[in-house]
Amino acid sequence: MLKNYPNVSKEYQQAVEKCRRKLRALIQEKQCAPIILRLAWHAAGTYDMHSKTGGPFGTIKNQQELAHSANNGLDIAVRLLEPIKQQFPILSYADFYQLAGVVAVEITGGPEIPFHPGRPDKTESPPEGRLPDAQKGADHLREVFYRMGLSDKDIVALSGGHTLGRCHKERSGFEGAWTSNPLIFDNSYFKELLSGEKEGLIQLPSDKALLDDPSFRPYVEKYAQDEDAFFADYVEAHLKLSELGFADEV
Ligand code: HEM
Repeated sequence: MLKNYPNVSKEYQQAVEKCRRKLRALIQEKQCAPIILRLAWHAAGTYDMHSKTGGPFGTIKNQQELAHSANNGLDIAVRLLEPIKQQFPILSYADFYQLAGVVAVEITGGPEIPFHPGRPDKTESPPEGRLPDAQKGADHLREVFYRMGLSDKDIVALSGGHTLGRCHKERSGFEGAWTSNPLIFDNSYFKELLSGEKEGLIQLPSDKALLDDPSFRPYVEKYAQDEDAFFADYVEAHLKLSELGFADEV
């Protein structure tokens, strides 16, 4: 997949690198990598390849979009990041939130994900209802991710993002972490998924759907056995997610 990335100025590129360092320090200090990754994913995951609406274009900071029920709690992430954003007025929010997502993965021991700057900020938020519903199964996951232009492999690899963080009753109605160390990015999400429900850890219906589906399950098994394979596919899927609707393919 060759993309036609826009050229950004030298000044912009330097701001990206400086901002990356500030984000590393903030995410380290606040231990907030999970909610920052969730912010970046929810910012991008609204993309609709047919209407070319939604996607990682900075609209998630709009009150209207933060009020979507899938985004409960993400106002906290927007607020945490704002003091850094203020230091880099040259950067678009669109780039800034995706850069923060990449840093959240890297700083917790995950793979390095390439970052290409140049996303513009858009004003109009997508309609509510484009992000996945954790109560639903494989058909629903396919409907949502295929709409973004992503594949079965991408769905499983990206679900491994639940190696970080936890569910909060007051945000999603669910409670608990997926893994015993929610601040480490590794392949433990898949190991835990295969080992079944354990006291204190959670498996959402949408997580369990990965076990029951004949196309999803082989990826779960592969990633549980082979962290390098997970990281390689995760990088590819996260990169695609972070660039939905950005830089036309050539
Ligand atoms: C496959 C469909 C998905 C569903 C149904 C889903 C659902 C959820 C739910 C219900 C929560 C709990 C929110 C809360 O109560 O705080 C959550 C948290 C989270 N999700 Fe997902 N998710 C999905 C995919 C993803 C993807 C693709 C990523 C990133 C690559 C991701 C990253 C996260 C992270 C890091 C958290 C933890 C946030 C925190 O600790 O504050 N999720 N997700």
